[in-house]
Formats: sequence, C-alpha cells, structure tokens
Amino acid sequence: MEPMKTEIVTDGPSGIARAAETLRAGRLVAFPTETVYGLGADATNDRAVAAVFEAKGRPRFNPLIVHCADTAAAERIALFDDRAHLVAETLWPGPLTMVLPRRPDAKLSLLVSAGLDSVAVRVPEHPTAQRLLRAAGIPIAAPSANRSGAVSPTTAQHVLESLGGRLPLILAGGRCSVGLESTILDLTGERPLLLRPGGVTRETLESLLGPVATSSGNPDKPNAPGQLVSHYAPGARVRLNATTVGPGEALLTFGPDLRKGETVLNLSETGDLAEAAANLFAYLRALDRLGVKTIAVVSIPEEGLGAAINDRLRRAAAPRDGSR
Ligand code: TXA
Ligand code: MG
Repeated sequence: MEPMKTEIVTDGPSGIARAAETLRAGRLVAFPTETVYGLGADATNDRAVAAVFEAKGRPRFNPLIVHCADTAAAERIALFDDRAHLVAETLWPGPLTMVLPRRPDAKLSLLVSAGLDSVAVRVPEHPTAQRLLRAAGIPIAAPSANRSGAVSPTTAQHVLESLGGRLPLILAGGRCSVGLESTILDLTGERPLLLRPGGVTRETLESLLGPVATSSGNPDKPNAPGQLVSHYAPGARVRLNATTVGPGEALLTFGPDLRKGETVLNLSETGDLAEAAANLFAYLRALDRLGVKTIAVVSIPEEGLGAAINDRLRRAAAPRDGSR
C-alpha cells in the first residue's frame, strides 16, 4: 500500500469532529478505548473494513469487533436474548465484547464478521471513544491498532510506531486504563462460552449467567465449535484455481476477464485486492443464492490482501465435515 501521512489529533471538539468525518468518509482512524487503542473503520462500509486488514497486514480475515455508542445501537445490528440484555445492563459500557447472532437486516459489512452469521459487539466506556461514536453516528469496526502479530497499543505513540504511514489519523486520548483486550463472551449457543479472557473476569460473568465454558485454544486459531471463524462456507462446493467453467458452475473471477453473465461475478475488474476483499463474502453469498452446485474461483495473487482472500477461499473449499 502507498505510504501516507499519519496525523495525531487530540480529543477536543475539533479533533473529535475531524475523526468522525474521516470515518464517515470511509477512511481509518485509530482511537482509544479503556482496553487498548482500536484501528477504526465504518462498519457498514466494505471498502473501509478491507482497508483495516490491509493496514494491519493481517494474513487472514478475522472477524472484527463492532463498537457501538450504547445498547440501543448494538441492538440494531445484533439479536439480544435475555442473557445478552442482562450482561449489557450490568457490564456495558465496559471491557466486554459479546458475540451474538447478526440481525438479518443489519446495515453491516459482511467482511466485518468474515462472512459469519454472528457479530461481535462492544460498548466501550472510554469518554473519547464515546464522543467519537456519537459524533460519527455509525458503528465502528476496530481490531487492536497494531500490525498483525504485534503487541496491542495502549498509547497514541504506540499506534504511531506500529502503523504510522498506514492510516491518516490517530485520535489521542491518553493511556488506556485497562491495557488488556476486552473479554469476549459468545452467546450464540445454548451455553455461554468464554472465547477470550480479558478486562471482565469469568467470576463476574458466572455470577450473572451461571457456568461459563471456556473455549479451548486461541480465538485467532479456532478449533472449538463455538469459535465459528472457520465455519462459514457456502452451500455450494468451491473449486479453486479454476481456469474454465463447467456446466452448472458459477464463476468468481478477478481482474480483466471477458466472461460475463448472471452466474459470473468479478471481485475486481481492475485487479485491486482491497476491492476484491471488500466484495468477497457478499459475492460468495450472491453466487450461492443462485443454487449452483459449484462455485469455480480463479486463482488470486498471494500478495498483500490476496493472502487473506486465499485463506478464506481455502477454508470455503475445504472438505466439509458433514455437520452443516
Ligand atoms: O479490547 C478489545 O477488544 C480491542 C478494542 C479495540 O475493542 N479489540 C480487539 O480486537 O482486541 P481484535 O480484532 O484484536 O480481536 C477481536 C477478536 C478476534 O480474536 C476474533 O476472532 C473475535 O474477536 N471475534 C470477532 N467477531 C467474532 C465472531 N463473530 N465470532 C467469534 N469470534 C469473533
Ligand atoms: Mg489484536
């Protein structure tokens, strides 16, 4: 990606207004929460969300946490049951994220939840984050504001050191008080599941919900059924590195390709990997909805965001375990 100038603004009214405007324009803004600094993007904008993965240099599309100003805003994108309401009333705003079913009518990028039917939502308490969310008036998708694999930042200076030149704006709001990522609680299943320990303790969660199971392993390398990161695959089979299209197949292509038609979608005619990433999940779903048996996918260059795109495609193409 082209290096750009990264500006730091303080969190007075003009800084907040600049940051809100930048987000609404589809550009990235790092901002403080009480846990760590987040790398924020308009969660309703596929291109903006794709830019997050590009700036972080993430090798694959992990679903991102969507930050909301309050529970009412979170309820516009996720479905809350009684447990979720109880947790929200007790622990929001705060260092807790809930994974909940995505509302079918949510105006959210599909890339933000990596094509899953669930979404991770959080209402942060940090006053700067609160002011930004209210000024922007949109849900903000944000992973920790560091290069992939690096330590999470707890000051604006850390963000600059890790991501300088890769985003236009950092909203500075001092040192993060918790300094550790939020606790992630998965409430999509019958049993509450702790996906990541963090700012809110298991004891606190259990006092509200009763027993909370711990997911084995790292949410970035999912293996438990509750960690649905690798679970999304279309109903159709996916055939990779296709050069031809067979009868009854749909085609997902990339770059200059003269093939057109109702069963052909082009991730990016100009060969732009960020555009392709932004379209990936929406296009897989669109082709799947045609009811074809197989989606043939041309090979995508394994560079930049292409590595993350290929990771998702390989998962979608992997042999099914019969459980879906
Ligand atoms: O404290 C925090 O949580 C910070 C601040 C910025 O909010 N954010 C953060 O984001 O740590 P990130 O992207 O580094 O971690 C998000 C985690 C990932 O491990 C991801 O797998 C999990 O949340 N996650 C997000 N959506 C999910 C979903 N729908 N299902 C399961 N896991 C999900
Ligand atoms: Mg992180």
